[in-house]
Amino acid sequence: MRLEGKVAIVTGGGHGIGAEYARAFAQEGAKVVVADVDEVAAKQVAERLAREGYQALGLRVDVADFASASRMVERTVEAFGRVDVLMNNAAIFATIPISREPFDRISEDEWDRVMAVNVKGVWQCCRAVAPAMCRQGGGSIINISSSTVFKASGRIHYVASKAAVVGFTRVLAAELGGDNIRVNAIAPGSTLSEADPTPEIVRMREAAIAGRALKRLQRPGDLLGTAVFLASDDSAFVTGQTLVVDGGGVMY
Ligand SMILES: NC(=O)c1ccc[n+]([C@@H]2O[C@H](COP(=O)([O-])OP(=O)(O)OC[C@H]3O[C@@H](n4cnc5c(N)ncnc54)[C@H](O)[C@@H]3O)[C@@H](O)[C@H]2O)c1
Repeated sequence: MRLEGKVAIVTGGGHGIGAEYARAFAQEGAKVVVADVDEVAAKQVAERLAREGYQALGLRVDVADFASASRMVERTVEAFGRVDVLMNNAAIFATIPISREPFDRISEDEWDRVMAVNVKGVWQCCRAVAPAMCRQGGGSIINISSSTVFKASGRIHYVASKAAVVGFTRVLAAELGGDNIRVNAIAPGSTLSEADPTPEIVRMREAAIAGRALKRLQRPGDLLGTAVFLASDDSAFVTGQTLVVDGGGVMY
């Protein structure tokens, strides 16, 4: 129970790996807010956790919108009294898909939307949560990047957005360290996160195995230990770091 007494928000918690982070935090004793632009999915995940005896609240957020991110924090504090952990997991990635076109065929609208959610959304949620964390004497922010940042692979707008998250994490860690707020990032490898993957998606995820030191498929469960570590006081002196969790595909 490494998160006993803590309150955690997981953005993008309605689907995929986000739902698994929410469950892992709850299992470690945290009260969890599952926030997603897909309100129905967020509520379903929270209700499932509540039925299993955990304390969980599902709500809608559009992370790109500061007013919406602020309401998410307000409702968290109303429901559970504080907020110790913000997991910035929401992104345009799989549930809301993006094109695999080369760099010069991506539409400007799609480029802007990816940046609005994957980059600006992280900033909006951080600035919405920071005052509450400052008031209570600290907190842990975990941003989700991607191991594609350290490889020459992936969709260029997505990879650019996840590279921005690494730089953002470092500067924010320096800015908020004086308030005892830690800011770290996780860079997952290609993870079979889809609820109902097509054979093509499974083949794509399996293709990553050849480039890894650990020769197997990566699943959401492979990320949970690192997420709990960064959320908990076990990492109390770790900040500004990006932990690559990809079975040794990237070593840096
Ligand atoms: N699965 C992988 O291979 C992989 C690899 C590296 C990094 N990641 C990252 O891990 C995270 C989770 O990935 P996933 O595979 O579960 O993807 P996913 O697309 O299933 O999950 C993203 C979630 O964010 C939500 N979301 C999208 N826009 C939003 C918005 N504006 N406001 C609030 N919520 C919004 C979606 O509804 C969805 O629930 C993402 O940040 C992704 O970029 C995934």
